[in-house]
Amino acid sequence: MGEAGAGRFVRGGSPSDEGVLAGLVAECMDHGWGRSQIAAALAARGARVRLVVETGRGPVAFLLARRIVDVLEIDLVGVHPDHRRRGMARQLLETLIAEESAAGLAEARLELAASNGTARRLYEGLGFVVVGSRSRYYPDGDDALLLARFLREGTASR
Ligand SMILES: CC(C)(COP(=O)(O)OP(=O)(O)OC[C@H]1O[C@@H](n2cnc3c(N)ncnc32)[C@H](O)[C@@H]1OP(=O)(O)O)[C@@H](O)C(=O)NCCC(=O)NCCS
Repeated sequence: MGEAGAGRFVRGGSPSDEGVLAGLVAECMDHGWGRSQIAAALAARGARVRLVVETGRGPVAFLLARRIVDVLEIDLVGVHPDHRRRGMARQLLETLIAEESAAGLAEARLELAASNGTARRLYEGLGFVVVGSRSRYYPDGDDALLLARFLREGTASR
């Protein structure tokens, strides 16, 4: 359990959080994941799941990621609209990245919609850089951007 500010804490997630996460994903995302995708992410080998819990209210933010060999693949990050701009997403990501970096992982990666400037600012602020794109990747025709960051101490972002 980790501190995340007054009245809230971070905890790890497990397959028993499927329902909680499905509700939170629906509240946080315009085009969220379906329940089967969430269940698969929770059960995946190497799953890294974190929830921010606000005392008296319950989970208000989440991070779904997976460790794939020596890469941390960040799948989904969401913060309830009433709780944004309080550093929760940055803290979730910084904490997990520090842990995975200490465990010897080489790189973190993710993809996001090119139109999602908010998320891009969040990740670029954490040292991620755009390393590729996929044209018209999403069903609404939006492009996907691929972002990456080296993790091991002493390696620079590319
Ligand atoms: C993107 C998202 C996760 C950010 O969560 P958050 O907890 O509000 O973000 P933080 O408070 O940690 O902000 C960290 C940095 O991100 C950037 N950022 C976050 N929200 C922003 C906004 N509305 N406008 C501009 N920059 C923003 C800023 O650089 C910010 O740093 P600053 O506050 O020092 O300026 C949240 O807006 C969200 O859930 N969006 C919908 C889901 C989504 O798009 N997820 C990402 C793709 S999976």
